[in-house]
Amino acid sequence: MSEKIGTIKVGLQERSYPIIFGQNLLKGLGQQLEGISFPRKIAVITNPTVFGFYGQTVIDSLAESGFQCSVIEIPDGEEFKSLATLESIYDFLIEKNFDRGSGLLALGGGVVGDIAGYAAATFLRGVPYVQIPTTILSQVDSSVGGKTAVNHRLGKNLIGAFYQPKLVLIDIDTLRTLEQREVYAGIAEVVKYGVIRDKIFFRWLEDSSSDLLSLNPDALLHAVKRSCQIKADIVEIDEREGSVRALLNYGHTFGHAIESLCGYGEWRHGEAVACGMVVACRISQNLGFSAEISTNRITALLRKFHLPVDPPDFTLGQYVTAMRRDKKFAKVA
Ligand code: NAD
Ligand code: GLY
Repeated sequence: MSEKIGTIKVGLQERSYPIIFGQNLLKGLGQQLEGISFPRKIAVITNPTVFGFYGQTVIDSLAESGFQCSVIEIPDGEEFKSLATLESIYDFLIEKNFDRGSGLLALGGGVVGDIAGYAAATFLRGVPYVQIPTTILSQVDSSVGGKTAVNHRLGKNLIGAFYQPKLVLIDIDTLRTLEQREVYAGIAEVVKYGVIRDKIFFRWLEDSSSDLLSLNPDALLHAVKRSCQIKADIVEIDEREGSVRALLNYGHTFGHAIESLCGYGEWRHGEAVACGMVVACRISQNLGFSAEISTNRITALLRKFHLPVDPPDFTLGQYVTAMRRDKKFAKVA
């Protein structure tokens, strides 16, 4: 494979944007932002873990290209994807006189990306933002498609907006510093794409699990490229989840229930989705919609990636109550 750097376009008329993926891209961030005429005054939203690894490279690149840049560090963890953290971001932006001519940059995993995106959607009724995802999960899923949100104590992502970034810059070299558990969790969303949209990709995942787990750059680039292309194709058809975008939620309804019931941060999002995918498969199989072989192959592939496939011990009633709070819940007459 020779996919060292590439671009995928998310075509949404005036809200279109490129996803640029490759290796060693952070150093060129300033130039990329110049290329899209991004505002000169920028707040980088990140957390201490990610900033410790990549903050200096990002700041240096922005400074070299003449951007004026401040840093907002939010605490690390799903439990901080909250209204309280969001308020602290607004406080900073207002106190530092950020205006409509400024922009936000999300540097981190899905938690940082979701909250920074929602801050961008709502601050001054909307300012431009860029996603620089640094986990597998955020590179293949959350940074693309414009879903932004914070959690409410009663449910995942209940407060949010659809708001597209101006650019997604994916540097797969950032994945080298991920903890092993985050590698596994991110791959759950990669498996999702194979199941919902691409048999050949699913088969490739079955054959390439050891390359992916060892973070082989060619394997990673292929996984990122195929996942982002599938997501972009779906979002172009259905930006606001009126139809086919619901496919991207495969495994998520049950997964979100696990996350809420266990307390945010206990299960990684990708782990909960992995388990949710198997539960959805079993339900589908019991209803006669899918074959046992599909459940078995999906379960086996998730196990290869060290992902959980058995739900934690809550009663059916607890799961049903949690799922009724899901934002997708609809009463069928
Ligand atoms: P995360 O953002 O919590 O990141 C996981 C951990 O990895 C954190 O501790 C983080 O500090 C650390 N980390 C990030 N990059 C690193 C790096 N390069 N090196 C070392 N450590 C690093 O979790 P996540 O799995 O990236 O994202 C999960 C979130 O994404 C959930 O809140 C979920 O709801 C959301 N999500 C959103 C969408 C969407 O479409 N908006 C889609 C899927 C998931
Ligand atoms: N992760 C689900 C979506 O973006 O629609």
